Amino acid sequence: MYVSHLSLLDFRSYATADVALEPGPNAFVGRNGQGKTNLVEAIGYVATLGSHRVANDTPLIRAGADRAVVRTRIVRGERASTVELEITAGKANRARVNRGQLGRARDVLGILRTVLFAPEDLALVKGDPDGRRRFLDQLVVQLLPRAAGLLGDYERVVRQRSALLKSLRGVRRSGGGPVDTGTLEVWDARAAQLGGQILAMRLALVQALRPHVAAAYAQVSDADGDAELTYRSSVPEAGDGTGDLPAAEDLEKAVLAAMTEARSQELERGVSLVGPHRDDLVLALGGLPAKGYASHGESWSFALALRLASYRLLGGGDEPEHVPDAAFWDPDLDTDADPVLILDDVFAELDVRRRARLAELVAPARQVLVTAAVPEDVPAGLLGARFEVTPGQVRRAG
Ligand SMILES: Nc1ncnc2c1ncn2[C@@H]1O[C@H](COP(=O)(O)OP(=O)(O)OP(=O)(O)O)[C@@H](O)[C@H]1O
Ligand SMILES: [Mg+2]
Repeated sequence: MYVSHLSLLDFRSYATADVALEPGPNAFVGRNGQGKTNLVEAIGYVATLGSHRVANDTPLIRAGADRAVVRTRIVRGERASTVELEITAGKANRARVNRGQLGRARDVLGILRTVLFAPEDLALVKGDPDGRRRFLDQLVVQLLPRAAGLLGDYERVVRQRSALLKSLRGVRRSGGGPVDTGTLEVWDARAAQLGGQILAMRLALVQALRPHVAAAYAQVSDADGDAELTYRSSVPEAGDGTGDLPAAEDLEKAVLAAMTEARSQELERGVSLVGPHRDDLVLALGGLPAKGYASHGESWSFALALRLASYRLLGGGDEPEHVPDAAFWDPDLDTDADPVLILDDVFAELDVRRRARLAELVAPARQVLVTAAVPEDVPAGLLGARFEVTPGQVRRAG
C-alpha cells in the first residue's frame, strides 16, 4: 500500500499543506525545525492514532487553533480510500472514511499500516519497560485493530482499580477497620479477563517476532543472529513467550491468582502490581540483556531490527511472513499489503555500513518516506521523489 496524498489543516507547524506522494522512495529534506517530522508524524497518526513523539494529542494541534485535520489518500492494490481525522484537544477524535459520516476514530485503524523508524527508537533498547510495552501493543493493534478497544478498556480498569486500592489503603491507614474487598474483587475479575487476553496476544506476538528479529539483527549488524526476545511477566504462569503458549482462559485465571497472591502488598502500596501493565519485553544479545550491556551501535542495530521485524510480520518484504496459528489475529488480515515505511532522521544516526545495509533492506518497499536535514544523509538508493521543506511549506524538488 502507499499514501498518494497528504493534506493537513492546523496540524503542528502547518496552517495548511498539500503533498502528492509517490510510490517508492520519497525524501523530505530541510534544515532543523522546518517541519519534516511533523509531516511523517501525521501519516503515522492515521495508521496508529498516536504520535511517536508525544503521548497526548494537544501538541499536534497548531498553536492557537482548536482542532487539526489530517487527510490521507491510501492506495491499496486497485482500491483507494480517503481517511480524514479530526483531532480536537480534550475531546474524542473523529474520523471520516471516503467522505462518509464522521464516526469513531478507532474505525480507521487497519486501513493504513506504517512502520516508523525514529531516533526515539533507541529508547526501546535503552529505556524503560513502558516504551517496549507500547511497541508490542501498537503492533498488536496493527495486526488486530479490534484489540485497540481491549487495550483501552484494560487501561481504564487498571486506573480505576488502582484508585480503589489507594483509597482502601487510606481507610486502613486511618484505622478505619477491616477493608471491604467486595468491590475490589469485581475490578479484579474484569482486570483479569482483559489482562489475560492481552497477555495471550503479546505472547503470541513475541513468539512470531522472534525469528524476524534474529534475522533482521544479523542483516543490519553483520553479526550472527544472536538477538533474542523474551517476555517477562508479572504473572508467573504466563511464561516467557517461548515454547507452547498458555491459552487466554488459563491466563485469565493466572492473572486472578497472581492478584490474590499480591493482594496484601497491593493494599499496602495502593498500586496494581500484577498484569500486562507491569510486564516487559526482554531484549538480549548473546545471552546478555541489551539494556545495560549492549554498545551504542549494537543498541541501534537492535532498535532497527525491531522495526524491520515489525515490517516483515505485517507482510512487508519478500520473505514469507510467520504469523503463526493465532486464532485471534484478524482472519481477514491482508498480509500482501506492504506497510508504508517511514524513516525519520535515522540515517544521520548510523555509521556508513549500517546506513548502507538499512537502505538496501528498505529500498524495495512499496513506499518509503525518509526525512533528513541534509541531502547527503539520504542514501542514493532512496532518492526517488524529493521534497524541500521550509517553515509551513513543502515543495516538490525533483
Ligand atoms: N502545535 C504546534 N504549533 C505550532 N508549531 C509547532 C507545533 N508543534 C511543533 N511546532 C513547530 O514545528 C517545528 C518542528 O518541526 P519538526 O519536528 O517537524 O522539525 P524537523 O524538520 O523534523 O526538524 P529536525 O531536523 O530538527 O528533526 C518547531 O519549530 C516547532 O516549534
Ligand atoms: Mg525531525
